[in-house]
Amino acid sequence: MSNASNDPAVLSVATCVLDMISDGMCVGLGSGRASAAFIAKLGERVQAGLKITGVPTSNASDKQARELGIPLVPLTEDLELDLTVDGADEVAPNLDLVKGWGGALVRERIVAAASKRQIILVGEEKLVRTLGERGRIPVEVIPLAHGYVVRKLKALGL
Ligand code: A5P
Repeated sequence: MSNASNDPAVLSVATCVLDMISDGMCVGLGSGRASAAFIAKLGERVQAGLKITGVPTSNASDKQARELGIPLVPLTEDLELDLTVDGADEVAPNLDLVKGWGGALVRERIVAAASKRQIILVGEEKLVRTLGERGRIPVEVIPLAHGYVVRKLKALGL
């Protein structure tokens, strides 16, 4: 758990999010430090009897959830997640996000797309005026799409 956020604001919001989770829900488990803090708290609730299932967005969140005893399910055709809780790398004033520095972008976006609702946990340092202020904009590409994506990026002058 050494890579979990210890930002008091993030921990406080993570605790509030727990109150939105009840028996029978399916929860998307995000990646990164803020998500790890949330998953740790969710694990405590599961150990105390909360009956939920989770869908991890990365190998790290999969491993953490298994260690905590959070039951995991695959993203099947008929599964609509109630909620996904994840972090972000930048948040613009209009709530546009940069995600993906943790290298789990594609999986994170698929799980979020399959969810009714997404909650993003960030500390104040992630708030920016314009996306790209804190770092480069990540592009994660599945192998099949590599040539196509490179062509499109070059056409954009990148
Ligand atoms: C993973 O690909 C990212 O989008 C993470 O959600 C993001 O990097 C999380 O940041 P923290 O580690 O600061 O929570």
